Amino acid sequence: MPTLDSYDDLPYESLPLPDTHPDYLRAIARLYGVSAAPAESCRVLELGCAGGGNILPLAWYQPGCAVVGVELAQRHVNEANALIAELGLANARVLHRSITDPIDDLGEFDYILAHGVFSWVPRAVQDRLLEICGQHLAPNGIAYVSYNTLPGWHLRGLLRAAMLAYCGTGRASQRLAEAYELFDLMEPALRAQTSPEAQFALQEIGYLRRAPTSYVYHEYLEETNEPLSFSDFMTRAGQAGLSYLADAELWTMFPSTLGDAGAAFETIIDRIQQEQRLDFARLRKFRRTLLIRQDTPLRTGPDLLALNKLAYYADLSTEEEIDLSAPVAQTFTSAGGHPYLVTHPLAKAGLMLLALRYPASLTWNELITNATDLVTQHGGGAFADDSAMLRTELFSLIAYQGVRPTLASIPALDTLPERPYAHRLARAQAAHGHIVASIRHSAVELDPLGRELLLHLDGTHTATELADLMATALKASGQDMSDMETLGNACVQMLWTFMRQGLLET
Ligand SMILES: C[S@@+](CC[C@H](N)C(=O)[O-])C[C@H]1O[C@@H](n2cnc3c(N)ncnc32)[C@H](O)[C@@H]1O
Repeated sequence: MPTLDSYDDLPYESLPLPDTHPDYLRAIARLYGVSAAPAESCRVLELGCAGGGNILPLAWYQPGCAVVGVELAQRHVNEANALIAELGLANARVLHRSITDPIDDLGEFDYILAHGVFSWVPRAVQDRLLEICGQHLAPNGIAYVSYNTLPGWHLRGLLRAAMLAYCGTGRASQRLAEAYELFDLMEPALRAQTSPEAQFALQEIGYLRRAPTSYVYHEYLEETNEPLSFSDFMTRAGQAGLSYLADAELWTMFPSTLGDAGAAFETIIDRIQQEQRLDFARLRKFRRTLLIRQDTPLRTGPDLLALNKLAYYADLSTEEEIDLSAPVAQTFTSAGGHPYLVTHPLAKAGLMLLALRYPASLTWNELITNATDLVTQHGGGAFADDSAMLRTELFSLIAYQGVRPTLASIPALDTLPERPYAHRLARAQAAHGHIVASIRHSAVELDPLGRELLLHLDGTHTATELADLMATALKASGQDMSDMETLGNACVQMLWTFMRQGLLET
């Protein structure tokens, strides 16, 4: 069986991708009048699934769903199959096949995912990828396909051109080392210039220096990288029997997000044309497009009233003392550090409740009732009776992904177990790397102490015993561990974080 040498040499760091989660896709589809399959019992196909970092957590957290990965690089397939065997996942398979190989034996799927694949494979593979979506989506199924978009990606293409010209023709790891050599060469020279192009290139190099090395290689130095415009992509998707549902990042679909300048786009009736023009205006470089079968009826715009039938969760926090008596702008921050400025007291109360409840969710009714009570109790009675406003704010927060809509319920947890037990997926991922998948399908990054702690959570140690174990580990690595109180507090704090991310079994 063939493989892909560049991925065998430099494997891709494969992570959970929240935008591909069937629960998220299903909730977005609901807004457009499409009734997709429940995440708890769906069938998922991922094309180019790398080491399974996206689909295997789906299979773990949703034992009633069935996931299949198709992957050509032998090393990725081995990695994924080793994790499947270690966890005994009976509902997951990763097949060593090319996307171009027949898959008639696999049947239909409720969700077909291809993230970071389309632009990075030759034209024949791209065509087959869309054909698979067209032929293997179940009724009301959703395909997620991401790709680099033109014309905005031309900006990134500048650096790729320089890297391709500079880096030789050796092995992937050698060429990657040469790419960093090129950055070292370019940076001081770019800093010495004030032109916008130089500033842009500096910014891009800064971004690449922070990115995983596997991304740098496979995005900038892979042989194939074929960006295309949204409308060209949709023409080809149409030829494969697919229609546009929505963008996984909802905010990008709305001209109003451009402020007053958006008015010029509002008059464009055709959705594809409108979004294509928005891509011109935003110089958009990347898209995550959701597709459905052409026989699936859908609304052309989101139905805000459908929000009443969904539930919500949000991994937010705030440093501010929230004022629920007045419409003053205050900031909530996502786990990834993105700030959300919220003004209306009802919306602020809603976010406080969701932040407290995470990873569990609140239904619309729970949210509106509890937020109204909270605002009334804290002097904001004048703002309490405004469910239409809360719905609009909620939609905006969903569009910008500060709040996620859901149809899958997760139990609320409020007590730390006496002897914490991290589930086997978390411990297996911690044993192999520094990123574990949360119950809400986000990537939880572990520092060395967090990783050590997680590996000890086998249900036999109390928090105090765990702090002693951490002290021993730190001493062994030559660090001063005289302040046991600080270490004990840090351990408890981390245990709460693990519980909040659904890594502990109770
Ligand atoms: C950039 S990586 C993205 C991996 C993963 N989807 C993610 O986002 O983390 C592209 C993946 O597609 C796989 N791939 C490339 N060509 C393929 C083909 N013809 N058939 C199956 N997999 C392929 C690569 O081996 C690699 O794992």
